[in-house]
Amino acid sequence: MLLWMVLLCVGTPSLAYLDAPDGGQAGSPPTVLVGREVVEAAAEVFVQKKNKELSLQCTKTMKASWHYHTNLTSHNKAVLMAAQSDYQRVRRSSWEEARKWRVLHHFLTLRPALTRQMTFLSHLGPSALPYSYLTMYESVVEDMLAVYRSASVCLPHNPPICGVSMNTGLVDVMAGSRDEGVLKHVWREWRQQTSRVKHSFPLYLQMVKKAANINDFPNKADADLAEYGGSPFREELTNAWNQLKPLYTHLHAYTRRKLRQVYGSEVVSERGPLPAHLLGNMWGQSWDLGDLLVPYPGQSYPDLTKEMKRQGYTPHRIFEAANRFFGSLNLTLVPSSFWRDSLLQQPTDNRPVICSPSAWDLCNAKDYRVKQCTRLRGKDLISAHHELAHLQYFMQYRHLPYVFRQAPNPGFQEGVGLAVGLSATSPRYLRRLGLITPEQEEGNSRADLNLLMSLALQQITFLPFALLMEEWRWRVAEGTIKRRNWNCAWWDLRYSIQGVKPPVPRSEEDFDPGSKYHIAADLPYTGYLVAFILQFQIHKALCVKADRYQPLIQRRPLHKCHIFQSLAAGEALGSMMRLGKSVGWREALEQLTGPGGGKLNALPTREYFRPLELWLERDNARHGEYVGWRPDGEYCVYKTPSPKGRSCK
Ligand SMILES: *[C@@H]1O[C@H](CO)[C@@H](O)[C@H](O)[C@H]1NC(C)=O
Ligand SMILES: *[C@@H]1O[C@H](CO)[C@@H](O)[C@H](O)[C@H]1NC(C)=O
Ligand SMILES: [Zn+2]
Repeated sequence: MLLWMVLLCVGTPSLAYLDAPDGGQAGSPPTVLVGREVVEAAAEVFVQKKNKELSLQCTKTMKASWHYHTNLTSHNKAVLMAAQSDYQRVRRSSWEEARKWRVLHHFLTLRPALTRQMTFLSHLGPSALPYSYLTMYESVVEDMLAVYRSASVCLPHNPPICGVSMNTGLVDVMAGSRDEGVLKHVWREWRQQTSRVKHSFPLYLQMVKKAANINDFPNKADADLAEYGGSPFREELTNAWNQLKPLYTHLHAYTRRKLRQVYGSEVVSERGPLPAHLLGNMWGQSWDLGDLLVPYPGQSYPDLTKEMKRQGYTPHRIFEAANRFFGSLNLTLVPSSFWRDSLLQQPTDNRPVICSPSAWDLCNAKDYRVKQCTRLRGKDLISAHHELAHLQYFMQYRHLPYVFRQAPNPGFQEGVGLAVGLSATSPRYLRRLGLITPEQEEGNSRADLNLLMSLALQQITFLPFALLMEEWRWRVAEGTIKRRNWNCAWWDLRYSIQGVKPPVPRSEEDFDPGSKYHIAADLPYTGYLVAFILQFQIHKALCVKADRYQPLIQRRPLHKCHIFQSLAAGEALGSMMRLGKSVGWREALEQLTGPGGGKLNALPTREYFRPLELWLERDNARHGEYVGWRPDGEYCVYKTPSPKGRSCK
């Protein structure tokens, strides 16, 4: 009741006033007839009401989503879509009301916790668009996705095998084939098919610009970066990348030499960038080259599957072990409903499910689940720890109002999951679980290097790719990359950041950014980039708390550390998680890493991979491999001369 009165007194008559950007041009501010306490109490009632409504709708949506993802029927899909649209409706009306409240900024400052909640409620992304534009936005993204989903390639067999998509085999061809002709063909055809994303791109850009404007941002780049505290963050990402570059460049040089051994220097030149089609992955975002890059073949840690089978492990037991990990940190154990409601292995009744692992918060402060088609593999053991880390985060912030029940930025939740995954990867922890023997674990520096290499090929190689992809989208959004240069600018970034070149010259007839799902689907990617860097910062901070990492002490290296049974690490992790999104991410991170630690820092990543970096340095020196890359041809033909008056390297 009170709420509406205040809205009428303060909000409605002043709406015209709201439109004046500096608030001063419309004459002197109207007199506020209510006292500060009254307004604040009303604001409190408003956010409480919204938090309650949103969490109820969230529960409905998550339940519907769970039913669909664990039982893919068209009925379940229809129920989910209805729930999602209800949620969006409530979210949108909260947005509209919250924006009326913003007029208050002109008269008084609410308590920070209230202001913070109001701010979250008053940003909504594209869903804030007027309905006619929203429909246009949704259909243009749908069009781009339709291109992506229908793209398929014919494999050059005799007779050709056609209709092969990412889901039905291209991943395996890219990772498994060593036939340069086949790889080049698949790489090029995939891009040929997805280049039609370009037709939708201008309209897409118009819509996201409108969406940014309506949320008070000049463009989508600023809207995206707002989640991290604004544009200075972009520089922070670049700085983090520069910290990592020496390690990446050594990995790059080593990989080039190994690829040259397979494909010859005609294909892989001595000092050039890496040919994009030879990296084992469609985009070169991880280098899935199997045994080709292992430093010491045949000397890895034993495969865990055999030992798990011998000890009678089941998917259920894998999760019990992961749950005990958190119990040993004096954190919260999963509720009994977890064991009843989760899906921990592939259903035996043949119902189709989406098997990729995920952690679920049903927004009611009691219902937490995991979906994972667990098999008895080391990978799945790590994944169980990772997913339960997400659940732990959900449970730790459950006391907060709905809008604060999130990690403080989109990379944090995943960063914590990955950091716990690092503990679960540690051979010392696996020894504690009894899955490898003390003899297998102790002093096995060759197995350690193999392990570090396989991690680096997933984690280190990802960073330049994610960074260049976001840089490209941001520059396009703010207009510093022009439409006539979209593709060549993409290759400029691919070359300069990633050190990668196309197997065949590209032009503006092509649209290679469209070959990546997250671009076609308009999905954010910065969160992954941030998470990959944060995980090592978090892992290091926890290992310091646990007193199991000391730089320069050989028996306590970061890559061997795990935090199992450390009350101090558990306390530190729990305290950070309990903050949810009620504070900024820098504050949350500083709470864990100590004073001055509230920024992105890739040096812990370097520390973690230190033994590998030393090994790569020596190996590259021993073979006289050039470290770095130089242009070795023309990669993309600019339609019009680039601003620098040259064609793309
Ligand atoms: C899957 O969903 C359908 C409704 O579309 C339902 O009838 C069926 O019982 C569900 N199956 C399981 C195993 O839950
Ligand atoms: C475990 O955590 C609780 C709070 O959740 C705390 O009161 C207790 O002291 C902790 N136990 C130890 C041994 O640290
Ligand atoms: Zn995760």
